[in-house]
Parts: sequence; structure tokens; C-alpha cells
Amino acid sequence: MLYMLHSLYTTYLTAQRMNTLYFYDTTEEDKKILEQSLSKYSLVFYSTPISIETISEKASAISVFVTSTVTREMIEKMPDLKLISCRSAGYNNIDIQAATERNITVVTVPSYGEHTVAEYAFSLLLSLTRRLPETVKIVKDAVCLSPNLLQGMDLYNKTIGIIGTGKIGKRVIDIAKGFGMNVIAYDLFQDTVAAQQSSFSYVSLEELYRGSDVISLHAPLTQENTHLLSDTAFSQMKQGVYIINTARGELIDTKALILALEKGIVGGVGLDVVEGEKLLRERCSVTATHSHEDPHILEESFYITSLLSNPRVILTPHTAYNTKEAIERILATTSDTIQKFFEGTIINEIQPQNSSCGRLVLVRHTESEWNARGIWTGSRDAKLSIKGFEDARLLGDILRDITFQHAYASQQIRTMETLSSLLGALQQPVVPVTRDKALNERDYGEYTGKNKHEMKKILGDDLFEKVRRGWNTPIPQGETLKHVYQRIVPYYLEEILPRIRRGENILIVSHGNALRALMKYIESISDEEIENTEMMFGGAVTYILDNEGRAKRKDIRTTSSLTYDTHI
Ligand code: NAI
Repeated sequence: MLYMLHSLYTTYLTAQRMNTLYFYDTTEEDKKILEQSLSKYSLVFYSTPISIETISEKASAISVFVTSTVTREMIEKMPDLKLISCRSAGYNNIDIQAATERNITVVTVPSYGEHTVAEYAFSLLLSLTRRLPETVKIVKDAVCLSPNLLQGMDLYNKTIGIIGTGKIGKRVIDIAKGFGMNVIAYDLFQDTVAAQQSSFSYVSLEELYRGSDVISLHAPLTQENTHLLSDTAFSQMKQGVYIINTARGELIDTKALILALEKGIVGGVGLDVVEGEKLLRERCSVTATHSHEDPHILEESFYITSLLSNPRVILTPHTAYNTKEAIERILATTSDTIQKFFEGTIINEIQPQNSSCGRLVLVRHTESEWNARGIWTGSRDAKLSIKGFEDARLLGDILRDITFQHAYASQQIRTMETLSSLLGALQQPVVPVTRDKALNERDYGEYTGKNKHEMKKILGDDLFEKVRRGWNTPIPQGETLKHVYQRIVPYYLEEILPRIRRGENILIVSHGNALRALMKYIESISDEEIENTEMMFGGAVTYILDNEGRAKRKDIRTTSSLTYDTHI
């Protein structure tokens, strides 16, 4: 027996080792951590970005940082490639079309460092407003200067304009508030709940330009917002405005910025990202080696040289993400995502581009006042706790990349409260909502309102577990899971699935047992196995479905800060 187990384990290990994973852009420290967490795989590391020379035909998975660009040509040369793991939130450095055509899964690290980047934005701002680089330099060089020349600017009572109020933008707002700054913001999708909670107001772009003493960029790069800060934008800004960009270099027209600096419209600029930043990293910005080959590189190189020589500019090489803690989070998520992928579960996948079928997303309501007290709520109404409202917003943050055409909730107030908070954070134009009793929580009958911990003592561990999770264990005057299945599955097949087949993305916010019943159908879980299936708190389950509404792919997204007593 022992021998058999050992040999099974050895076969499993051999199968895992057959998956060769190639990591690019890694440091020695990254390598150490990844070797530990992915010890059962065969790993190859490159400290450099990926290139045609460093790719391998044997690669089952590759993992890259933003400094690497994964092209169609590279993808074509890796016939066994199944997974591309981006060790970043963004994936604009991957040829997604080419990956999709080959059915290669692309995963990212959706959230690892909003605090990290926000803190960095402020370190750039404070360095500029308090003229730290010059101050440090004159002390080092022992130059005597009149204090006037080192005079800075208070942040207190100044107005900061935030473009992009997502995860990072919101953290920057909180920090700005701590400095006693007034905050105005612009976003394509306004988060009115956050605006109320953090006391800031949304304004038009023009108003933001006119009213801000500091402008900080936190929007992703899209075709529409390339060169958002152009000559026209700069001409509308306050004289002496400070600009901070930790988002993407292409959001600013660098030529227009240099002109605005010359005219004194821009008093100082802190850039962690800049057009042509690759040149900065390669330290060839001022060399002419590439210049005569590519006029575009020459132009970018010229701008970077001009920025580097301007004392009112602080330029850093895309490093805002770079703290010990953030890197640890990136590596932990990357390892977990890769491991789960090779064990059959896809998490943190980017949204596929060419799916004619929509997506189904299941979310369990966040903590209610009764959950907080450990009470069985069932079909009774209980409002969300304050934590419940806050956590629902975090769920919205992790679902931002999916545009929902319709949302469903049960008739209980806690799912509706979760849904409205989540939709607020999701920042999408109005999403129609249907509430239906088919999605209600299991009726706990005589056990409604009972404390779960006390019920466990009364029923004993085994019966308690059966009552909670079993397929057909009765509750006096209440429903079994089977009863819930019998109402939720027909509703799903008749009302929800046709929408998904038409290409709509659907969000269902419901309850632990109602969602377990639905998952039983979607994932074809047996009556016995359903006892061991949990619908998580603090996360979202995303499915791509076949025509029958069964799962073709399952993707789990989590917000690491949400934890509940899920055992009881
Ligand atoms: P997020 O997705 O949470 O928020 C982005 C926000 O920008 C959303 O509210 C969205 O509605 C808004 N937005 C989209 N297009 C817009 C437009 N044209 N105008 C105004 N707002 C617009 O993203 P998160 O995590 O806050 O990251 C923001 C950006 O920061 C990323 O896209 C990335 O480019 C950059 N980043 C930079 C890092 C660095 O090391 N320098 C590290 C991580 C992210």
C-alpha cells in the first residue's frame, strides 16, 4: 500500500516536472522565492526581458514582467505553451490576440500594490515641492546658497486633481486628505459612494486642469487617452502646476510637457513612467547607436535627455511598484496562480477577447449584522454590517474589467446592499438588476435566528455538518439544499442562461447555500461531493459556460483582505 502511494506520488511529481516554466526579468531574490514556492516544477530563469534568443520550444508556461514584450513570433515558436503569467496588473505587453488564437491562458496579478504606488506618487510630489534632489546635492557639494533658492511649497490647503479614481487613485486621495489637501477628480466612471466617503468631488477634465495645483495620473493607457495631457490640456492649467505620472508614459505628450516646462506652466514634474522609458532602463537614451536606425527612438531619446537635464523634473525608471512587500505579494500570487493552473483551476485570468458567450459571475453577499454575530439567517432579512459594505466595494474593484449587462440578486436586503455597493465600486453605467425569490437563501425553518456555535453543541459535529452542507438533510419547517436546487436551477436555465448565450455578462449576488446549489449544477458536482463544496466569502467565481450552462472554465478572483468565519 505504502509502495503504491509512493509510486503514485512519484508519477505525479514527474508529470509536474514535465511542465517547464520559464521566468524572465527576475532578480536573484525572485528566483529564490519562486524556486521554493514552485519546487515541484522544472524552472528556468532569465534576469533579462524575454527575446527570440531566450525563448524555448519546451516552455509550458512563461512568466514576464512589464519590461518584457511577448510577441506573436515568440508565441508561435513555443508550441507547448499553455500559460502566460504576467507578474503585473497590466498585460498590454502581451500579444493577446496571438495567445487567444492558440488557446493560451493569460493571467495577471490583478491587485498587489495600490498603497505601494500611491505612496510613491507622494514621494515624487514631496521631492518636487520640497526640492529634495537639489537640497541634498548642495549639502553634498558643500555649496552655500541663499535659502530662497530652496524654497518649496506647502501641500496643505492646495488642490490636487486626480485623473483615474481606481484602486491607486483612491489611495492617493486618502493620502492627500491626510495632508489637508482639497481633492477634485475625473474618471470616466464616477464612484459617487467613494466621493462621499472620502469627501472629494468629480469635475470635468477642463475644471480639473483649471483648478489643480497638482495633477496626478492614475488611469490605464487606452487608445482614447493616449496623449491626454497635450498642448491644449497644458494651456488650460494653472501657472506652476505640479504633474505626477505613475500610470503610463503615453498618457502625456512629452514634447508638449517640455514646452509647458519651458513656459513655466508646469512648475515641476515627477515621472515614474515616460514615453520611451525602455531607453531609460537600457541606459541608451543619450547614445546615438539606435538613433539613425529609428527616427522614433531618436525623438524619444532626445526628449528623455531634455527631461533628465531639467532640475524641475524627477524621472524614475518605472519603479513605483517596487517595495519588498509588493514584490512578495506579486510572487506569492504568481506562484499560486501557476500552481492552480497546472492543477486544473484557472484564477486571475484576463477576460478572453473573442468569446461570443457572455460570462457568469457569482458573488456571495458580504458580512451581514447576523453573520457578524454567528446567527443562521436563512430567508430572514438582515442588513449588511459596516464591514459588509466596505468589503462589497472591494469586490467591485476586482471585477472592473468585466462590463455587466445584467445583475441578479435575491429578495433579501443583504444581497441587494452587497450588489449596490459592488456596482458603485465597479463604476459602470447603470446595470439593470432583477431580484427574484428563486435566488433566496435556503429557508432555515425552526433554526432561523439560532446561534450556529450553540447549534453545533446541540446537534453534535456530524449532524451539524450534515444540516449545514448536506444534500438532503432536513431542517424542521425548512428547506434542504435539494429544495433550493429545485428552484434555483430552473430559474437559471430559463431566465439567466439565455442572456449569457446572447453574449451578456451576468452577475449574480446571492447566498452561500443558494450559490452552492447553483454550482452543483454548473460544475456537475455529485450529491456526496457537494458537502465539501464551499462558496467563498470575499471573492468572485467567474465561469465560461457551454450551451447547457455547465462550466467550461472556472476562474476564482479574491480580494485578499476579506476574511470571514466560513467554517461555521
Ligand atoms: P484601476 O483599474 O483600479 O483604476 C483605473 C481607473 O481609471 C478606473 O477608475 C477607470 O475607470 C479610470 N479610467 C479609465 N480610463 C480613463 C480615462 N480615460 N480617464 C479617466 N479615468 C479613466 O487601476 P489601478 O490599479 O488604480 O492602476 C492605475 C494605473 O496605474 C494602471 O493602469 C497602470 O497603468 C499604473 N500602474 C503603475 C505602476 C508603476 O509601477 N508605475 C504599478 C501599477 C499600476
